[in-house]
Order: sequence, then structure tokens, then C-alpha cells
Amino acid sequence: MRSFKCIAGILFLCIFTTSFKANADDSHHYEWIVSLSDRAPLGVNKQVIVINDQFPGPLLNATTNDVVNINIHNNLSDPFLMTWNGVQLRRNSWQDGVEGTNCPIQPGFNWTYSFQIKDQIGSFFYYPSLLLQKSAGGYGAIRVNNRDVIPIPDIDVLIGDWYNADYQDLRTSLDNGKSLPSPDGILINGLGPNQAVLDLEPGVTYRLRISNVGLKASLNFRIYGHILRLVETEGSYIVEQYLDSLDIHVGQSYSVLVTAKNTSGESYYMVASSRFTDTELFGVGIVRYPDSAGDPDGPLPLGPFFRDYQFSLDQARSMRWNLSAGAARPNPQGSYHYGSINVSRTLVLENGVMFDGNKEVFTINGVSFLQPDTPLKLADYFQISDVFKPGVISDRPNPDNPPVFGTSVIYANDQEFFHIVFQNPSEYLQSWHLDGYNFFVVGMDVGTWDESKNATYNMIDAVSRSTVQVVYPFSWTAILVKLDNRGMWNLRSQDAVNSYLGQQLYIRVEGTETDPSKVSARDEAPIPENAILCGRTVYHDYVL
Ligand SMILES: *[C@@H]1O[C@H](CO)[C@@H](O)[C@H](O)[C@H]1NC(C)=O
Ligand SMILES: *[C@@H]1O[C@H](CO)[C@@H](O)[C@H](O)[C@H]1NC(C)=O
Ligand SMILES: *[C@@H]1O[C@H](CO)[C@@H](O)[C@H](O)[C@H]1NC(C)=O
Ligand SMILES: *[C@@H]1O[C@H](CO)[C@@H](O)[C@H](O)[C@H]1NC(C)=O
Ligand SMILES: *[C@@H]1O[C@H](CO)[C@@H](O)[C@H](O)[C@H]1NC(C)=O
Ligand SMILES: *[C@@H]1O[C@H](CO)[C@@H](O)[C@H](O)[C@H]1NC(C)=O
Ligand SMILES: *[C@@H]1O[C@H](CO)[C@@H](O)[C@H](O)[C@H]1NC(C)=O
Repeated sequence: MRSFKCIAGILFLCIFTTSFKANADDSHHYEWIVSLSDRAPLGVNKQVIVINDQFPGPLLNATTNDVVNINIHNNLSDPFLMTWNGVQLRRNSWQDGVEGTNCPIQPGFNWTYSFQIKDQIGSFFYYPSLLLQKSAGGYGAIRVNNRDVIPIPDIDVLIGDWYNADYQDLRTSLDNGKSLPSPDGILINGLGPNQAVLDLEPGVTYRLRISNVGLKASLNFRIYGHILRLVETEGSYIVEQYLDSLDIHVGQSYSVLVTAKNTSGESYYMVASSRFTDTELFGVGIVRYPDSAGDPDGPLPLGPFFRDYQFSLDQARSMRWNLSAGAARPNPQGSYHYGSINVSRTLVLENGVMFDGNKEVFTINGVSFLQPDTPLKLADYFQISDVFKPGVISDRPNPDNPPVFGTSVIYANDQEFFHIVFQNPSEYLQSWHLDGYNFFVVGMDVGTWDESKNATYNMIDAVSRSTVQVVYPFSWTAILVKLDNRGMWNLRSQDAVNSYLGQQLYIRVEGTETDPSKVSARDEAPIPENAILCGRTVYHDYVL
């Protein structure tokens, strides 16, 4: 209850109890106004979510260990939350901006997110997490710079599928049981064909921070005549690879180094093309050198055949963690030697579908996530029973149980070491994301997973990241994760439609203290002073 005393006027105590921020090296303050604006990236007018009138939204540019305060003013007619995809928010799921951790910012209101970006570097992005608002934009790039490394010039490249329909119409159509049509196109930095331009200086090496910010479509990115030197996956340095093109699945981020040619006067096409869609879609932009006149001379760069999943599988499996690179923390994930830690629990999570009347919804192990009236994190804090309970979702799929709606929360103890297998029996590629963590991607293959597959795992230098794909059909991906970050963490399909329609759950990572209000601030950040209350917390007996 400490934090409520601040509001009651004991300012000194308030400052004292929030002093976990005091060793931060720097702080940033942003005021963001979220509103709708008529834009037409593909030539068709649409209500786009802009931030301070920008689409994509402003860059969140920080250095590791900085404190970030972002005051978000909701000028939409819908409730709003922003989530920080890939930012680990250490011990602070209060700031995660998803429906299970925060009450939404109501229209006409504002709320200040406040978090420290601890011991992390890399390329990430933010996006609106509620109500399919992501299909209207509202996203932007996050860079977390390394304090000790002299930066090279950075360019953010946000690529994603795009629908011309307004997000409320797309949502209504999903709510009525219709599936989304094919996207209308692919945007690069919020722009349509030939509109996105990267200006390069001859001879200079750039770091392109590329994220797939779209709803569903996997994309392949490439630049004509330029090699992509892949160096980072969502905050880990990886063994460098020289690639002609890179597959980036929904929700994933990478850094690639691109060395500009030595000559001026030319321009080239860059492409983000869809993978595994009904027809191949192209987002096209231009890489331009000084004194170049007009359109690129060359053709579009060639990529893999758009239905070739083997390319995607091989490329993902070829990535290796660079054990000698200095990352933000010398010891990310709590151990370099993840291969020698004993697994405390194995979960096999299988994606599926279920029919609710005529409406198709999505499940994990037969449970389609039902958002309760009160955010889980708040219900936990105020110890309101009946909002959620353990055991709703089983550790393995059970084909004998009919699919149901339920509020899936997996209970875990701080420091447990989980082995999670994502099993994909469908004919669509899946992309999975865990908030609050990076995990090691130790195995990925076609077929059905069983225990014997663990003999094939990479137990030495698997990449560490927060979003991973499972190719199709009938494939699996295995991850290992050290649950050393207390809080209520969302595990979701990064396919915005699938997670909107139930394909998500929460992992509740706690210590032994059973009264959440007595947890030490070193173990977990206290409830924010400005926490918005909603659902059953509004009627709860506490003192403001
Ligand atoms: C981002 O922050 C870094 C580190 O402070 C700084 O060097 C760089 O110029 C900033 N970039 C932008 C675009 O603000
Ligand atoms: C959005 O901003 C406009 C102009 O400031 C204001 O008139 C309107 O009431 C705001 N709408 C909401 C929902 O906040
Ligand atoms: C809302 O914004 C005002 C400044 O515009 C700020 O003083 C206030 O703290 C904000 N409220 C919350 C809950 O963050
Ligand atoms: C690993 O990272 C270091 C430091 O960034 C770099 O010098 C080295 O080339 C990388 N090693 C490989 C094999 O990519
Ligand atoms: C640019 O010129 C330098 C020096 O001549 C050479 O080493 C380098 O390979 C050239 N780079 C490209 C991309 O052609
Ligand atoms: C892992 O389990 C084995 C067998 O139970 C045990 O001998 C070993 O000490 C454990 N290792 C660690 C690091 O706990
Ligand atoms: C792999 O399987 C063996 C035998 O079942 C087990 O001892 C080991 O813990 C497993 N490793 C992982 C990473 O699950």
C-alpha cells in the first residue's frame, strides 16, 4: 500500500520508495497525443492512428538503463493502451500496456508510463495493444543504444501489411465471425509504393533497425545490389551473416548493417514482400545516393519463392548467438550456460481453433483466452478472488477435452527454468511472443514434437529473442526461458487477429510472499502511484 500513501500526501515517502529509479543514468520525457487522422498510404483514405500527428509515431530513442516517461493522451473514441514489444520492463509488468496488466486509458484521458530500460540494448517497437487498433497504425520504433559503443548511423525501417479498411470495420467483421481478407499492400515506414526513401552517403555503413509491425503477414526484406550483414535479433548480438534477403515474421525485429556503395548518382529498389500469403504482395521503397536523378535503373531485388518455408526454416536455424559480443549485460538471461540448467517444467503449447456459434476463434491447448472484467495484475495485487485461478490451461494439449473459453494463467516461481514447445498443427505460420523476457530458441523443425527431439537442440549458442516463428504445416519450435523477471507476463500470438480472438495467455512469475502488497521493491516494482483502476478494483475497499 506504500504507493497510495504518496497520494495521501506523504511526498517524502513517495520519493523514497520510488528511489529504485535513482541510479538511472538518464531520463527521457515524452508527451504523446494519440489521435485519428485521414491518411491514404495506398491511395485509399483511412482513419490512421497518429502520434503527435506522425505515422509511424515518434522514435523512442534511449540508452540502456535510461528511465523513460511517456505521457499518453488518448484522443481516440476508444480505450487505449500502448505496449513496448521486446522491452523487458524488468520487474515491472505494471507498465506493459496489455489488457491483463493495465486498465485502459479512457477517451479524453491521459496516463504516464514510467519505466527503466534495464540492461538491454537493441531494436524494438511499440504498438497499440487493444481492439485491433494496430491495424490503424499507432506504432513506432524503439532503439536502445549501448552506452559504451560509438553509434553508427541508424535508420529505422518499419515494415508491415496494411488494410485500407478502417480498424473499427475490420474489428466488427472479426466480431461477426468473418475472417480478414488479404492485406491491401505492404507499407515501409508507413508509406506506399516508392514513397519510403533511405538516403545513403557513399562508403558509410548504416545500421538498419527493421521490425515487422504488421497484423499477420511474414515479410522478406532486401535491397537491390546491397548485402545485409545481420548482427542483432531483438537485443542479442548474433554471429554475423551476410544475406541477400531476410525473413521477418510479425512482431520480430532485427538489426542489419548495410555498407553503402562508393559511388554517387544511383538509386536502388528495396522491397518488403509478403510470404505465405494467397498472392505475393510487394512493399517497395528507394535507396538513394547523392545526385541521383529519378527512379532506380535496376529491377526489383529477387527474394525466395513466397511459399518456400524451407528457406525461412533454414535461415532461422542458421542464426547463432555471438558469445563474445559485449551486450548490455555480460550475463543476459542469468546464464551464458543455459544448456546446463535443469528444466523445471515443460509446456507443450498447441495452437488451434474453436467455433463459438458460427464464429471461429483461436485457442492454445484448447483454451481461447477470455479477458476478465479486471486486469489480472490488479486482481492479483488487491487479492480479488475469482478473477483467475491456476489450472485453466494444461501443460500439454489434450485432444480429449473439448475446447473452451477460459482465463489461462500459468503460475511459475521466480527463477524457474521453463522449456516451452510451440506445436503448430495448422497450415499457417505462427509467430509467438513473450513479454518481459528473451528466451533461447533451441530447436525448430517440421513434424510433431516429442521428447526425443531434445537431442537435436542447440544447447550452446542458440539465439536469444522475444518473438519466434513456427513454420507450417505440422512444425514445432522449442524455447528455454529463465523466469527471473517477476510479474504478470503476456504470451501471445503476434498475429494480431489470432491474439484478438483468444490466442494468448499469461505467465504469473512470483516469489514466495503471498501478499502482493508486501513484495519488496527490489523484487518487483510497487503498483504505480497513478495506476488506473477499473473492473472490480473500482469497488474494492482500499484507501486512496
Ligand atoms: C539517439 O540517442 C543516441 C544516444 O544518446 C544519440 O547518439 C543519437 O543521436 C540519438 N538519435 C536520435 C535520432 O535522436
Ligand atoms: C480530441 O481533441 C479535440 C481537439 O483538441 C477535442 O475537441 C476532442 O474532444 C478530443 N477527443 C477526445 C476523445 O479526447
Ligand atoms: C496527465 O497529464 C498531465 C499533464 O498534461 C499530468 O500532469 C498528469 O500527471 C497526467 N496524468 C497521468 C495519470 O499520468
Ligand atoms: C561477435 O561480436 C564481436 C563484437 O561485436 C565482433 O567483433 C565479432 O566479429 C562477432 N563475431 C562473429 C563471429 O560474428
Ligand atoms: C569502397 O572503396 C574502398 C576503398 O577503395 C573499398 O575497400 C571498398 O570495398 C569499397 N566498397 C564498396 C562497397 O565497393
Ligand atoms: C540437475 O539435475 C541433476 C540430476 O537431478 C543433478 O545432479 C544436478 O546437480 C542438477 N544441476 C543443477 C545445475 O542443478
Ligand atoms: C531432454 O530429455 C531428457 C530425457 O527425457 C531430460 O533428462 C532432459 O532434461 C531434457 N532436456 C530438455 C532441455 O528438456
